[in-house]
Amino acid sequence: MTNKNKTVWSNRFAKANSKNFQRIGSSINIDKRLYNEDIKASIVHVQMLIKQKIIPKNNGKKIITGLNKIKSEIEKNKFKFKEKFEDIHQNIEKRLFQMIGDSAGYLHTARSRNDQVVTDFKMWVKKSSLDIKKILDLLIKSILKKAEKNINTVMPGFTHLKNAQPISFAHYLMAYVEMLNRDKKRFINNIDLIDECPLGSAALAGTTFNIDRKFTAKKLGFKKPTNNSIDSVSDRDFAVDFLAAAATCAMHLSRLAEDFIIFNSEAFNFVEFNDKVLTGSSIMPQKKNPDPAEIIRGKTAINYGRLNSMLTIMKGLPISYYKDLQDDKELVFDSYDTLKDSLLMSIELIENLNSKKNNMKEMAKKGYTTATDFADYLVMKKKFPFREGYIISSKLVNYAEKKGVRLDQLSIKEINKFVKKSKINIPKIFDVSNSMNSKTSFGGTAPKNVKRMIAKYKNQIK
Ligand code: ARG
Repeated sequence: MTNKNKTVWSNRFAKANSKNFQRIGSSINIDKRLYNEDIKASIVHVQMLIKQKIIPKNNGKKIITGLNKIKSEIEKNKFKFKEKFEDIHQNIEKRLFQMIGDSAGYLHTARSRNDQVVTDFKMWVKKSSLDIKKILDLLIKSILKKAEKNINTVMPGFTHLKNAQPISFAHYLMAYVEMLNRDKKRFINNIDLIDECPLGSAALAGTTFNIDRKFTAKKLGFKKPTNNSIDSVSDRDFAVDFLAAAATCAMHLSRLAEDFIIFNSEAFNFVEFNDKVLTGSSIMPQKKNPDPAEIIRGKTAINYGRLNSMLTIMKGLPISYYKDLQDDKELVFDSYDTLKDSLLMSIELIENLNSKKNNMKEMAKKGYTTATDFADYLVMKKKFPFREGYIISSKLVNYAEKKGVRLDQLSIKEINKFVKKSKINIPKIFDVSNSMNSKTSFGGTAPKNVKRMIAKYKNQIK
């Protein structure tokens, strides 16, 4: 009855598809990645059909045995994926017919590829969100380790890439831990919305059969079945959410990479990397370039692009299922692979980074980075309004700049020209470490704070 070499719908069709359409319309090269989810969902579907007495038990059992065999064939690389059968769902169904004969015909009772594909895909996105979370944990761990070694490393903090105020290198690194921790939450929070099982929605209308959707949902690890069969097969919000979380995370990695590229330049000379993560030049013998950081920064464009493509596919797509949706998987898989590589590369960059503490400190002394400390001092010790302290300090900066010296190189006499009877402890107030140590407000760069934050995150991740 069912021809094993023809498409499922061949009886209705007088002609086979053109070669070009077969190639362009098929998704098997992409969605074969869903084989595990597809087989798992099919097995649970069959168990439900047996339980509900919708299909005969013996046929159902044959199907389950066959599906397990197909799974091991795929895992042993013995399965022949065929473009002709379009996607993973029909490739598996066709193979099942070859293996067990007409019993295979019971499998597709009360389901459609429309609910099948979105169920598989949701399972995959859920699993992969947890995967990304795990790698984010590894990256956070490696940053914490590096931060621990740099709590007292003073560097200039920048705004507008101009030296702003002295900060701890560890505090700078911990800023990225905050970003990555939010990324983690984004991927985890998404799971709540993925957690509804579409299986049993069939093509779009639901089904005549007395199926038990709660059973399938639970067995496939979902919280509950979806409410609306039309929404079930047309919803790809979960793909958009994954891509959005990936794009944001890639953006964070790109900023970190960009910082490293700047810090590694001869002009800054704040950090050096182990040769393991550097490349040379084909013409300039002296070169050592931080390519991995540039790759991470560049790949962010891919994560952004995939999100934009998905949103564009969804825009103006009438409900419910249209073939436009088939590209959702390529976009999400690609974004996942790209982000995963960027995360792994970021871990290696951190592990192979060495901070040049002296250079950082010397640079922190440039650009009058303690001028705000002087204004603060005038407010605290002389009870000036801040704006007045700020004006005095800016005049002092002008004076020092003209003279070509740093603030800590001025004498008490010179400072007294700007503030009467100042009892200022010059070496201390203009010292960059003192400045860093004094930022004790919650979330500030004082080493005490930074230590506490590192401990908090270490505890949280373990
Ligand atoms: N390969 C298809 C996809 O990925 C499966 C769903 C096909 N459904 C359909 N009505 N053509 O979207």
